[in-house]
Amino acid sequence: MGKKQYLLYMVQIHTNFRLAELESLADLFNLDIDFSKYDANSPFFFLELDNDEQARQWIKRSILTKAIYEYWGHGQTLDSLHDTIKQTPGFQERCKQFKNSSFKFEFENYQGGKKKDMATKVKQMESFKYLEFEGKIDLKNPQEIYTLIEEYAPAFGKAAPTVPLSYIFGRFVGSSDRSAMERYDLKKRPYKGTTSFEAELSLVSANIAQVKPGTLMYDPFAGTGSFLTAGGHFGALVIGSDIDGRMIRGKGANTDIKSNFRFYQESEKFLDVLTMDFTHNALRSNLVLDTILCDPPYGIRESIKILGARDPERFAGKEDIVIDGQKAFLRKDYIPTKKPYSLDSLLDDLLRYSAARLPIGGRLAFWMPTANDENVETIIPLHSNLELKYNCVQEFNKWSRRLLVYINRGDSFKGPTNGGQKRSPSNFRERYFTHFTK
Ligand SMILES: C[S@@+](CC[C@H](N)C(=O)[O-])C[C@H]1O[C@@H](n2cnc3c(N)ncnc32)[C@H](O)[C@@H]1O
Repeated sequence: MGKKQYLLYMVQIHTNFRLAELESLADLFNLDIDFSKYDANSPFFFLELDNDEQARQWIKRSILTKAIYEYWGHGQTLDSLHDTIKQTPGFQERCKQFKNSSFKFEFENYQGGKKKDMATKVKQMESFKYLEFEGKIDLKNPQEIYTLIEEYAPAFGKAAPTVPLSYIFGRFVGSSDRSAMERYDLKKRPYKGTTSFEAELSLVSANIAQVKPGTLMYDPFAGTGSFLTAGGHFGALVIGSDIDGRMIRGKGANTDIKSNFRFYQESEKFLDVLTMDFTHNALRSNLVLDTILCDPPYGIRESIKILGARDPERFAGKEDIVIDGQKAFLRKDYIPTKKPYSLDSLLDDLLRYSAARLPIGGRLAFWMPTANDENVETIIPLHSNLELKYNCVQEFNKWSRRLLVYINRGDSFKGPTNGGQKRSPSNFRERYFTHFTK
């Protein structure tokens, strides 16, 4: 059977992440999609797929799209839209296929246009009479929904244009997972903190990381567990760790990471979280971690620390301190000594760890901050076994952060590497406070 034409209607937010999300989901579901006509500036992507099932499966996890439609036609005026509908290959077959299905019409406006009154809607619907649908109109539970999308030019501060740039018509096939943003909205989450990552981009990150149902996802810098929550939503079994026990313990039995999973009725996805320095990792080395997704410490709110003594000579002998007959470091209330560490080294460790623990084809995705105030080249950490697949930038005023996504290709890959090199030009924390906040 030949391929069919579809229209993907996307959101115009986080457009730097959109293609990466769509490609990652297509790859996850083994779909062969030609992205050559994808336009980063347009909310519309016209593409071909084998059938509706493929379209539905692809888009139902997507966050940065709205819906996918079977494409029927596209025109600059309503008349030319009708002409293209009639001329688009398969027109007669489509009309026949849906002749007796109950249906309704929906109207979408991209970038403005007036709210349509009923009389205009009825007039527009009547102009589609030639489709000769005989099924009953059912506004509540129709078998098919036909959507007329009107695209308007941007208003640019002037009065909104009243005449559309173009009209697109299609049969609704499937919606995205955009409503998950509301469900996981931080405002409604019981346990959250200053480090919590917003719902939309944590879900997008999990999609680009190809988190899969029934697999193991690990966040080594779990904090309040934003990425664990996103991973759980897409069906992974999640495990997290953080050096800061306060994050892991939360603020009580009903205000911790575990209780967030209960709140979302996804407790079965939550394996556990542990207080642990990532660089002294206690997860057994033959445990396969299918995906690693995280937001390492940038050193903005706090400097980066790992276990160890800043001055080992001064610390010498302190391991032997005994309190109430018990070695101090074995007591529950023991707070281990920590020493500063650099972001470069921490990211090197993260890449090395991921290359060792991810299966071949498994993804590591993490966020990295960069400054855009100086002409300083951003050097992305690289490991010879990891292919850098995506580098998606989110721009702020004077700094940006990027989602870096790597695929583990194994020992035979031999890609470029820059481990052990000083990549960050100077301390990000210092630069953040002295340059970016002005
Ligand atoms: C940017 S925050 C991550 C926030 C997290 N995504 C959330 O949803 O709250 C970085 C976290 O890394 C933790 N961290 C810092 N150094 C660490 C280390 N050496 N090992 C493990 N966690 C560490 C910090 O305590 C902090 O919670």
